[in-house]
Amino acid sequence: MEKFIIEGGAKLSGTVRISGSKNAALPIISASLLAEGKTVLHNIPDVKDIKTLIRILEYMGVKVRFERNTLEVDPSGIYRYTAPYEFVSTMRGSICLLGPLLAKYGQARFSMPGGCLIGARPIDLHIKGLKKLGVEVLIEEGYIVGKTPRKLKGSNIFLGGNFGSSVLATANIMCAATMAKGETLIEFAASEPEIVDLAMFLKKMGARIYGEGSHCLRIEGVKNLKSVEYSIIPDRIEAGTYILAGYLTRGSINVKNVVPGHLFSFLDKIEETGVSFKSRKNSIETVPSGRWRSVDVITLPYPGFPTDLQAQMMTYLSLAEGISTVTEKVFPERFIHVAELNRLGANINLDGAKAIIKGVDRFKGSKTMASDLRASAAIVLAGLAAEGETEISRIYHLDRGYENFEQKLVALGAKIKRIKS
Ligand code: EPU
Repeated sequence: MEKFIIEGGAKLSGTVRISGSKNAALPIISASLLAEGKTVLHNIPDVKDIKTLIRILEYMGVKVRFERNTLEVDPSGIYRYTAPYEFVSTMRGSICLLGPLLAKYGQARFSMPGGCLIGARPIDLHIKGLKKLGVEVLIEEGYIVGKTPRKLKGSNIFLGGNFGSSVLATANIMCAATMAKGETLIEFAASEPEIVDLAMFLKKMGARIYGEGSHCLRIEGVKNLKSVEYSIIPDRIEAGTYILAGYLTRGSINVKNVVPGHLFSFLDKIEETGVSFKSRKNSIETVPSGRWRSVDVITLPYPGFPTDLQAQMMTYLSLAEGISTVTEKVFPERFIHVAELNRLGANINLDGAKAIIKGVDRFKGSKTMASDLRASAAIVLAGLAAEGETEISRIYHLDRGYENFEQKLVALGAKIKRIKS
């Protein structure tokens, strides 16, 4: 196993280029199964989750070629429609293969994803939507088995759950509906930029989708979808992580290849803390600042504050002046980073789904353990700002979603090394 050793206190400065969005790439790669021929996708991040999805596709008989962030997917040789436990258990996002498989091939057998480190991860909305389109769904020996004896049929589907809209349920149902007979209406659809990117990709393939970016999607089914070439949007969560690295190390980082509009709620909160940044068409540059102020943050589906930046924001607020609160409304148990941040000197208490953060003057380096992907990024940020040395074990979590993380940080001036345990 590998770990990071960070010598904290280095001021980070310079330019960092943001990679393609992992969470846009996963459903778009899956949706390329809907095409007749070979799809070519650019700006695909070279991270572990993408490689896991590629392994699942190869297992199914799909031809895949991945080189220098370009991925070619040719489903013509597909002969298995199953995602076994070994794959799904390491990457829950593979569930987004379900919709495309059922729409195009009429069958899918998927290991049930189960919960994970960020809490219970139900799939009731995926199943409800698929059933509404005419899929027969059974649970057999830990597998979800979907079958469509005849062509899927468009329907009116309310896709809201107890925690609001669902990103991947929307992706699955939208994909499935593109080839269904007639019209589908999805109410309470997710409006995340990753869903809009998926809709743009599907539309380029010939799908008829209306209303992407809103909570109501209308999809008119078509008979075939053609293969296209497409480039994925930048990763807004990676961008937010580097922006916070800039403030936390009192440096000036020019975060390039971002869509500032995708980070609106995050940047708004950052501004409320009293720091500033220069926002340009495709970049955001942090302006070094003294101590920032506390704020209250509530995570919500887009355009609210993203849950995927909650942990990193908590690192930032730990060094704010005053008391902040962070309320997690998307994954109410997503607080695994709290104990590790406290180990580094933060003062965070939990009250159910709310964290109360009393600002401290500094972090002090310590031994820590990475857990889920974003929690691990939060610990790296704290280590960069800390006095002394921070050791972070189990960094494979970070490799799931941050492309060249330590290389990018080193290029900005960080003292971070990857070593074998
Ligand atoms: N939910 C249900 N029923 C469902 C599906 C979801 O109740 O059938 C609930 C969830 O338990 C949660 C809420 O709805 O409380 C939202 O979950 P959502 O379905 O939107 O999450 P997801 O689609 O499984 C994606 C991202 C996550 C990100 C969430 C929320 C991918 C591959 N994953 O997951 O990303 O946190 O949306 O924005 O796109 C990450 O990148 O670190 C990550 C976890």
